[in-house]
Amino acid sequence: GVKIVTIGGGSSYTPELVEGFIKRYDKLPVRELWLVDIPEGKEKLEIVGELAKRMVEAAGLPMKIFMTLDRREALKDADFVTTQLRVGLLEARIKDERIPLSYGFLGQETNGAGGLFKGLRTIPVILDICKDMDELCKDAWLINFTNPVGMVMEAINRYSNRKKAVGLCNLPIGMHKAIAEILERPMEEVNVTFAGLNHMVFVTGVYMDGSNVMDQVLDKWGNQTVKNITGIEWDSRFLKALGVIPCSYHRYYFMGKEYLEEALENYEHNGTRAEKVKKIEDELFELYRDANLKIKPKQLEQRGGAFYSDAACNLICSIYNDTRDIQVVNTVNHGVISELEYEEVGELGCVITKNGPMPITSGKLPKAVHGLIQQIKSFEVAACEAAVSGDYDKALLAMMINPMVGSQRYAIEMLDELMEAHKEYLPQF
Ligand code: G6P
Ligand code: MN
Ligand code: MN
Repeated sequence: GVKIVTIGGGSSYTPELVEGFIKRYDKLPVRELWLVDIPEGKEKLEIVGELAKRMVEAAGLPMKIFMTLDRREALKDADFVTTQLRVGLLEARIKDERIPLSYGFLGQETNGAGGLFKGLRTIPVILDICKDMDELCKDAWLINFTNPVGMVMEAINRYSNRKKAVGLCNLPIGMHKAIAEILERPMEEVNVTFAGLNHMVFVTGVYMDGSNVMDQVLDKWGNQTVKNITGIEWDSRFLKALGVIPCSYHRYYFMGKEYLEEALENYEHNGTRAEKVKKIEDELFELYRDANLKIKPKQLEQRGGAFYSDAACNLICSIYNDTRDIQVVNTVNHGVISELEYEEVGELGCVITKNGPMPITSGKLPKAVHGLIQQIKSFEVAACEAAVSGDYDKALLAMMINPMVGSQRYAIEMLDELMEAHKEYLPQF
């Protein structure tokens, strides 16, 4: 049987994951699922863990659920470790979103000044987990969902010994589903190629009945988006000139002014996305407490991470069974994305084997986006260097080269205020 360890097990997303393992039990016999959290998360861990137990019991499966605050105890002899943690909890995310906005800058979980700080807080913790894994479950795979996934995976790639690590996001699978819906076909009948970085990924080709039908999709892409980003409509003239399909997060770069205006408006009247998520989470945990609830509640779909479990469980299932199907993951690109260096991490299609993801050709990225992708990769690399060194000047460098910042004075002011606000979670500085 398979032993899975989920770090950040008290997350409201855990029922997604549990549902995914239940659905795939015949192919992936998970005998032990260890949910790990920190003392501050103990209450949530217990609520989610009890729900998980009810879910597997209702499904009639011999899957054992363990809850623990002892990460090292859990990691012992694991086969797969998934990470879905949030250093500083939602309170820290609120600061990442509010502080930049108070200076007139868009800041968010994975983008801009807020994204940088989520990286600075998270990278040391993930590198620690990698060290523990080297000691306690050397051969296990790390499946990282923790944002900012791009920066986190680049840090693992550059600063840990761990080769068995894959980064995941729900955007590619969500985009594939949306494309299939536009074409009115089941997903399996539509082949989609992806290339780029996490939250900076493009669809480079859409194939159906033997031909590339990209133009049909570009025409109708319109307001397709994830739950955490409002879907301001893409102008199809722009998309056709671009020639590839952007992800939801590209709106922050191509419609930065609109999103800043929207965020400032919300900041005054409705609060930030983080604050909204806090309310959704409170409601979710209220539901999770109900001893009659034995399935993943529908309300979880209000979160941006829809289909998260499909992405995670498909990946684990294919590594375990050496399935060799194609999935989109964050891994070293090995020359497939020629705009990146050979050994840098990208988000791209791979054949999933028991030896891990093997990148496949990912289509052509147009000249129009080379600069943006390289700029974001440069930012990720600078952020990683800052996170591991604890060097203030390197953090300033990362802030300065982020395309959403573009101001020396405000870069310094935001950096100082965010450093102070998060100092409890930035021991390296
Ligand atoms: C998207 C991203 C995830 C992110 C989520 C935020 O789905 O791919 O990486 O965590 O949105 O959703 P939330 O509901 O927390 O705002
Ligand atoms: Mn994501
Ligand atoms: Mn190199």
